[in-house]
Amino acid sequence: MSTAKNRITLAEGAAAGILRQTSVSHIGLTVPDVPSSEAFYARVLGLVSQGVLPDGGVRMGWGVGHHVLDLIPGESGLAHFGFEVRDEDGLRGIRERLLAAGHSVADLEESFIDYPLGAPSGLVAVTPDGTPVHFHSPVYRQGENAADPGRRPIKFQHTTIGTNDLEPLVDFFVSTIGFRISDQLADGRFCWLRSDHDHHTLAIVNVNTRGVLDHYSYDLAEWEDFKSWCDRLTELDVQVQWGPGRHGPGNNLFVFFDDPAGNHIELSAEMEKFYDDHVTYVPRRWQPVPSSVNLWGGQLPRWRKTSETI
Ligand SMILES: [Fe+2]
Repeated sequence: MSTAKNRITLAEGAAAGILRQTSVSHIGLTVPDVPSSEAFYARVLGLVSQGVLPDGGVRMGWGVGHHVLDLIPGESGLAHFGFEVRDEDGLRGIRERLLAAGHSVADLEESFIDYPLGAPSGLVAVTPDGTPVHFHSPVYRQGENAADPGRRPIKFQHTTIGTNDLEPLVDFFVSTIGFRISDQLADGRFCWLRSDHDHHTLAIVNVNTRGVLDHYSYDLAEWEDFKSWCDRLTELDVQVQWGPGRHGPGNNLFVFFDDPAGNHIELSAEMEKFYDDHVTYVPRRWQPVPSSVNLWGGQLPRWRKTSETI
């Protein structure tokens, strides 16, 4: 692989309306055994089944309110991922920029369990890797921002997608959708993007295959919660796969474990915040060494590579 080919040279926000109040909404995963994945997410993360999908999958969330996770029958993979757009005229701007850039746009047609705000409106675009990405209007989620350490995280926080061609994907989300670059590895293999105050709501990493989920992340309130969660995971016979540690980009605490389909789940806290109204920020370029993605000693999981370890 040529790292030079994947080096990011984009002028961030050059063409897009900048998103400042857009957060992660939901994710759809294809899994080979829906009942076992459903049982795992109920047992480990406290998600509640909200209904059966037309294709035989199951929709899960935290009680009444918008869903977090769709589990869809199929070979293990990423079916779609979504964002909640609270920026004024944000959805209209995204639609206009997608069409102006020659992308096709479809209306989001889903029946959401979404008391009391009603079903959101939205659109579906397709990333350069061919993955559907949803953008929709504000929704209600029950219990979000209420910590219950060891039993349920606060909220779904970010999605990290894997690709073998990073630059078109970063360009799509920055120059067309309206994300901003917060950080990147200097070899262009990893890029972290923001769309609200959090350092990243989306990240993109080169994993030598396209259209895949690298990992996704749920928020915890604080460091003390990591002790409760690691003890709880041990009680549930779920192996911690990486961490606890602290990332360089984002400065967030992390611990990782896997779901039954092999998806990597991150629990995270203390993510760096950006207040773009007050400062001008130049994205940093972190060295592609293990200690950048794990400040505490540089240990890596078996599935994470940096240029230094390739
Ligand atoms: Fe992450």
